Amino acid sequence: MKQLTYIGTIGLLVSTVFSSIAQNHEFTVAVDQPTGEVNPHMWGLFFEDINMGADGGIYAELVKNRSFEFFRPMMGWQTLGNAPEGALLVLNRQEDHAHNPRFLRVNTTTAGSGGVGVSNEGFRGMGIKEGLNYDFSVMYHQRQPGITLRLELVDSAGLVIGRGMLEPQTEADGWQKQSVSFRATATHPKARLNIWFEGKGEIDLDMISLFPEDTWKGRPGGLRADMVQILADMKPGFLRFPGGCIVEGYDLSQRFQWKKTVGPIEERQMVINRWNFEFRHRPTPDYFQTFGLGFFEYFQLAEDIGAEPLPILNCGMACQFNTAEAVPLDQLDPYIQDALDLIEFANGAITTTWGKLRADMGHPEPFNLHMLGVGNENWGPQYVERLAVFQKAIKEKYPNIAIVASSGTDPNGERFDYLDSALRKMDMDIIDEHFYRHPDWFFDNATRYDDYDRSGPKIFAGEYAAQSVRIASPDNKNNWLTALSEAAFLTGVERNADVVTLASYAPLFGHVDGWQWTPDLIWVDNLGVYGTPNYYVQRLYSTNKGTHVVPLTDQGKPVAGENGLFASAVLDKNRNEVIIKVANRDEKSATIQLNLSGTRRVETEALHIELRSDDLDRVNSINHPSAVSPHERIISVDRRRPSVVVAPYSFNVFKIKL
Ligand code: AHR
Repeated sequence: MKQLTYIGTIGLLVSTVFSSIAQNHEFTVAVDQPTGEVNPHMWGLFFEDINMGADGGIYAELVKNRSFEFFRPMMGWQTLGNAPEGALLVLNRQEDHAHNPRFLRVNTTTAGSGGVGVSNEGFRGMGIKEGLNYDFSVMYHQRQPGITLRLELVDSAGLVIGRGMLEPQTEADGWQKQSVSFRATATHPKARLNIWFEGKGEIDLDMISLFPEDTWKGRPGGLRADMVQILADMKPGFLRFPGGCIVEGYDLSQRFQWKKTVGPIEERQMVINRWNFEFRHRPTPDYFQTFGLGFFEYFQLAEDIGAEPLPILNCGMACQFNTAEAVPLDQLDPYIQDALDLIEFANGAITTTWGKLRADMGHPEPFNLHMLGVGNENWGPQYVERLAVFQKAIKEKYPNIAIVASSGTDPNGERFDYLDSALRKMDMDIIDEHFYRHPDWFFDNATRYDDYDRSGPKIFAGEYAAQSVRIASPDNKNNWLTALSEAAFLTGVERNADVVTLASYAPLFGHVDGWQWTPDLIWVDNLGVYGTPNYYVQRLYSTNKGTHVVPLTDQGKPVAGENGLFASAVLDKNRNEVIIKVANRDEKSATIQLNLSGTRRVETEALHIELRSDDLDRVNSINHPSAVSPHERIISVDRRRPSVVVAPYSFNVFKIKL
C-alpha cells in the first residue's frame, strides 16, 4: 500500500503505505469493449434567473430599477438634497411606450441651495473595484437645457470613491443616449451611485445604467467576467436556459416570452421575477427580470463557452405549483409560433424575419440550435396534449430539432410513471428528469439507469442536487456529503452515457445576499465567486468525459455501492487513455487492483485527481473558496498490474495512458 505525497498541485508519488485498514478490491475494466459513445456535449449547465443569477448577478448592470419599471417606481432609488415638490416626477407614457412606459422628469428651476439628486443602491450594493473604469450611460430628453449630471460612487460610509460628469450634449427633440466613463479610486463591496443635478433646467431620464469595463470579452453592457469564467472552466457541453420554473411563470401573463427579450434593451419589457415572492421565508421584493440578459445574449454566452444552446419554452401552461393556468388547445398557436420563430432566430438565414433580427443584433452566423425544450416540470394529460401539438408542428418544419420533454418534478411516483410511459409512446427524443433528493437517495440510486430501455428516448438528467436537509429548505448546505453523493450517483450516469446523454446540476448560481433557493452550484457576492464541492464534482466529470464508455465491474457486477465504492470508466480514444472515476463513501481507504482487459501494459506514470475531505459537513465559502477542491498528482503504477488507492470520503479520477 502506498503513502501519497504532494509536491505543489502536481506532485510525484514517492513512497508507500496508505492505511493499515485499507480494503483490497479488484476491478475489471473492459477497455477493449466500449458499450457506447459519450456525447461530447453530455455535461452541461442549467441556468435560471433565480438567487439573483441574472439581474444582480451575471448580468453586470449595477443600477437596480434603471428604468423605473419596478412595481414601486422608485424602488432602489433615494432622493438626495432638497428637492421641492414636483422636482422629481415619475411619468408614465403607457400609450406610446407600452414596453418601457416610465421615466424620471427632473426639474431644478425652483430648487433652492443644497442641490437635488438621486441615489441608487445597486443590487445589495454595488461591487466596485479600485482602478477600474465604470461606464455610466443614460437616455435623456432635454426639455429645458441647463442641467449637468455630477456622478459619485460612494462607499457605505459616504466616502466618494469615484467621480464623473455628464453634460447632456444635444438639445434635439426626442430621446438620446449618452455615456461617460470614470475610474474608481477604491474597492468596495456595497457602494452606491449618486447623481446630482447641477444647474437650472428640466430633463427627462430613463435607462440610467452603470457597468464595469471589465465585462466578459469587454462587451459594453455585458456579463460579469468572473461568473462567465467559472462556467467556461467547466468546459460545459450545453447551456440550458432560461430555467426552470421561470419559463412557466406564476401565471401565464408572467411566463417567459423570448421575443420580449431581444432587440434594443430599452424596449425589452420587464416582468416580475417569479422568485420575487415564491418563498415566504425568502421574500425578494426587488427581484424583477429586465432581460438585459435576453435570448440573444444566452445564445452568445453558450457559443462563447463552447456549449450547445438548449432553450426551454413555455408549453402553454403556467407553473402547476402556482396558478396551473393552461391555454385552451385552440389558442395554442402563438406559443407554437414562438417555438418555430425561435428556431428561425437561432438558425435561419439572414433573409428571414427572425434570422435578420439575429444578424441586426450582431450575429449573422447561425447559432446552430439542435435541441429545444417544451415545458419545464409540467405534468399530467394537459401537458401531454399540448406537447403533442408542439411536437407535430416542430417536426413538420424542423425534423432535425430534438425535442426535450418534461417528466415532471420527481424521479418516481405516479406523475413520473404516467409521463415516462406517455413520452415513450410519443417517441419523444429526450426526456428531462429532475431529482432534488437527500444524499442517501443519490447513493442508493447509482444503478438507476442500468436497466433503462436502450431503444427508447435519450435521458436528460436535467436538474439534480442532493439536499442536505430537505428540498428547498433554507438550511440546505453545499457540503462535502452532498457532493460526494452526487459523485457516486454520477458514476451510474456515466456508466449509462449511451442512454443518459445530457446532465446538469441545478440551480447554477446563488448570491450570498440575494438567494431564494439553496443549495446552488456556484456562489457569488458583488466582488467574487467560488465553486462549491458540488461544482468540482461536476467539473471533474465534464473535463474528464472521455469518448467511449467501457464496462467496469467487480466480480462481474457494476461497482455501485458495495463496500462504499462507486466507480465508472471511460476511454478517451483521442488520447489513448482510460479514465476511471471512483467515489469512496467509506471511512476506510481502499486499494484497487485494475485488471485492464484487452491491454497488455500501461504507462507507469498516471494522473490522479482527488477531491476529498474527512469532514462531510465541510463547505467552501467566499473566505475559504478551496476548502474542498481537487488536487492533482502523478502516481506511479505497475506497467502490467496497475493498482490505485482511494482515500476515505473521496472522489477520484485516475487517467492512465494505455
Ligand atoms: O432549480 C430550482 C427549481 O427547481 C427550478 O426552477 C425548477 O425547475 C425546479 O423545481
